Amino acid sequence: MASHTGAGRPLRLGLIGSGRIGAVHAASLAAHPGVDFAWVADPFIESARGLAAMYGATATESVEQVLEDRSVDGVILCSPTPTHVDLILAAAERDVAVLCEKPVDLDLERARSCQRAVAGAARPIMIGFNRRFDPSFAAVRRRVDAGEIGRLEQLAITCRDPEPAPEAYIRTSGGIFRDMTIHDFDMARFFLPDIVQVSAHGSNLFNGYIRDAGDYDSAVVVLIGAGGEQVTITNSRHSAYGYDQRLEAFGAGGMLSAENFRPTSVRSYSSAGTEQADAYEPFFLERYAAAYRAELEHFLRCIREDESATPGIGDGVAALELAEAAAHSAVTGRTVAVGGAAAVGPAAATRATESRG
Ligand SMILES: NC(=O)c1ccc[n+]([C@@H]2O[C@H](COP(=O)([O-])OP(=O)(O)OC[C@H]3O[C@@H](n4cnc5c(N)ncnc54)[C@H](O)[C@@H]3O)[C@@H](O)[C@H]2O)c1
Repeated sequence: MASHTGAGRPLRLGLIGSGRIGAVHAASLAAHPGVDFAWVADPFIESARGLAAMYGATATESVEQVLEDRSVDGVILCSPTPTHVDLILAAAERDVAVLCEKPVDLDLERARSCQRAVAGAARPIMIGFNRRFDPSFAAVRRRVDAGEIGRLEQLAITCRDPEPAPEAYIRTSGGIFRDMTIHDFDMARFFLPDIVQVSAHGSNLFNGYIRDAGDYDSAVVVLIGAGGEQVTITNSRHSAYGYDQRLEAFGAGGMLSAENFRPTSVRSYSSAGTEQADAYEPFFLERYAAAYRAELEHFLRCIREDESATPGIGDGVAALELAEAAAHSAVTGRTVAVGGAAAVGPAAATRATESRG
């Protein structure tokens, strides 16, 4: 770790993994005036070289080389999910700050053991639940907290991908709940940190290779908060009209809703139809561009101020606990009770227990 992180000095950061999401973070790192974008590490060296060359960073096949560079303040982990735990541990051991992409791992026990291992980490460890930083979702949360709709009673989260991920990805994804709904579980916890009950239904409505992989292409989840609040999550792996990302918070005093984004606000009115608008943003790169930038800003602030980061690894574990419970519920048809305080520490990361749904 660098010896000081004074506000005057740019923070030296490395990117680990230069695939789809790596390219998004690379662009944000390069554009940030407070960042010295030093390294891109990827065993697929051609990919690392391509990205490093675009932004004047140094490419390497070796993550070790980045972590051994004592001038590096932090790394962003954008490598495949099964590498996350080992890389979090390796970075924490060297006092390097981490922003790790979701999920922490596909295995809940492994994620919990990582959480325990880094409990005393000297530098911030943050999990890439970028949607907390989406300006619209964050504004809804702020306004709910300010009491604008009274007590939050119901939260409705809609998340539909434009089209299914490729078959090879689906086979290693860990299933819809751990891979896709994990963002929505975190969004639910952003509003209601203590979830006590999970019931989930999965269906195979349109895609053969997802069914053959033992996964679902469509899912509905109901979560119950500690105060009886209701959260509904609707997921589909396809959407004919683009990336569908919406949220509604409802209470006695009214409702706050965050709608989909379009590239422009232009609408056309003609004999063929009225109020025809652009299609929605195609996928996460476009829809959450501002959120990824705000997420990076937060990570940098945590490094500078030496603060623990939120969402942290406890939030990553808590979302995974909900994913595990949902997968169990979808198979058994039962409602699953979960420990509402799982995020606050390893001791509170309780077992999921079954009850009749
Ligand atoms: N927050 C989000 O919106 C979001 C979006 C997409 C993906 N993700 C997450 O990001 C991670 C990466 O996803 P992706 O779609 O970019 O994958 P990808 O396959 O496009 O890229 C992964 C890259 O990591 C490299 N890699 C493999 N092993 C490595 C190692 N040990 N060290 C360094 N690099 C290694 C690969 O060569 C590849 O270039 C996954 O955990 C995924 O769940 C998050």
